Amino acid sequence: GTVCALAMMSGSSFAADLTVGFSQIGSESGWRAAETSVTKLEAKKRGIDLKIADAQQKQENQIKAIRSFIAQGVGAIFVAPVVATGWDDVLKEAKDAKIPVVLLDRTIDSKDDSLYLTAVTSDTVYEGRVAGEWLAKTVGDKPCNIVELQGTVGSSPAINRKKGFDEAIAKHPNLKITRSQTGDFTRAKGKEVMESFIKAENGGKSICAVYAHNDDMQIGAIQALKEAGLKPGKDILMVSIDAVPDLFKAMANGEANATVELTPNMAGPAFDAVIAYKKDGKMPPKWIQTESKVYLPDTAAKEYEARKDLGY
Ligand code: AHR
Repeated sequence: GTVCALAMMSGSSFAADLTVGFSQIGSESGWRAAETSVTKLEAKKRGIDLKIADAQQKQENQIKAIRSFIAQGVGAIFVAPVVATGWDDVLKEAKDAKIPVVLLDRTIDSKDDSLYLTAVTSDTVYEGRVAGEWLAKTVGDKPCNIVELQGTVGSSPAINRKKGFDEAIAKHPNLKITRSQTGDFTRAKGKEVMESFIKAENGGKSICAVYAHNDDMQIGAIQALKEAGLKPGKDILMVSIDAVPDLFKAMANGEANATVELTPNMAGPAFDAVIAYKKDGKMPPKWIQTESKVYLPDTAAKEYEARKDLGY
């Protein structure tokens, strides 16, 4: 009783009145599932009433969810935009209703940045660039044919991770992308597309490296390569993005070579920004940037142990 009453007085009383509607994309990847669980935890910590709508990968479902959150009069709306374009109308409706919107983990293409309060994301161009730089350094002067598994077509991380990687390898004429296709950020599609790459590339023999826009597609690719009798991580260099526990497991087993971390905790900083804005009128910066760190096999076993119970 007393502890609870004290907790209510020490700053969380405002948050206890706050309802946040979160339009989540779906559950295409381990990383996405982790983001959903972390968002629930971070809401609970702050006494926030969180309503999550799962859009099953469809922008039209996200637009409907946002309209429904507006109709319910929530205090703030979080959205992880599945694709980058087509948000202006619905975000204008939220703005007219004076409901602040925070973009989580993906950005939008809009000329009007007053349509959202802030965006909590990593620098996804940088993620692609460090992946490319790591590969160039590891390959050295040898010729290297790369196959690329792209994320969801039209999504900001797929666009930017391609851009950053292309920029990095452009400085190294011995590195070439020979095949590039979307694997929709899923394990199943990553595996399927990798199977077709293997067929098209001489049973996989002419592939030097796989660059996947997320770890789940990379895990699918690892399975496909193993089934084709190849040795991912040894014969073929494997670099991807997210740093989910299963990728650390693959690295610890010698089947992957590098991953760039994307924190699943986008919601913590987003909740804090909304609370400061609504309580004290404090404007956050337009971009709250999360860290991107490269992980290699040397620390993989340790990182796996530290993360395996996080529930993703
Ligand atoms: O927007 C972030 C990306 O979306 C993650 O890298 C990927 O795993 C997820 O599905």
